[in-house]
Amino acid sequence: MDTRFDHRPLPLVLTGFMGTGKTSVGQVVAEKLGREFVDMDVVIEAKEGMPISKMFETRGEAYFRALEAELCARLAGCDNAVIATGGGALVNPDNRAAFVDACVICLDATAEALLARLESMCDRPMLAGNARIRIPELLSARRAAYAQIARHIDTTNKSIAQIADEVIALFKVASDEPR
Ligand code: S3P
Repeated sequence: MDTRFDHRPLPLVLTGFMGTGKTSVGQVVAEKLGREFVDMDVVIEAKEGMPISKMFETRGEAYFRALEAELCARLAGCDNAVIATGGGALVNPDNRAAFVDACVICLDATAEALLARLESMCDRPMLAGNARIRIPELLSARRAAYAQIARHIDTTNKSIAQIADEVIALFKVASDEPR
């Protein structure tokens, strides 16, 4: 795909449930567009000097969510970045509002696909317990919030390269739209 189009300054934000490929896809997209890649979870972990799982354990979820909200407000002005949010970040309407002028794309996948991708991982505090139960539970709790996002890509059975190309195609359309 030709990624040399003259994309105007506009933050490109990838969001969606854990395991939808926000980070892997975001890195490829940033590379192709010649943009900086920002992974919100990595920024928060670096600032706090601990992994998110430890933060949930020692400070609690509310502490993490406050840092996440602060960071969304700060990143909304990063016109030349590709930003991967944590899966819960844009469930908060204030954080969606912070990115109102950005091109926000929500990556989706079926519960089965997510389970296959996440089952062997134990670093997601929101999935503590039984991932087989937690994934559909949390997906259904977040469905209405994710539905508020205008652009979606289904990632089920697609490669990272394929999803990255779809993201760039959507971004191209968004960056041609008048502000
Ligand atoms: C979370 C998703 C995680 C991370 C934190 C909370 C969530 O990010 O922000 O564990 O609430 O869905 P990924 O979506 O990158 O796994």
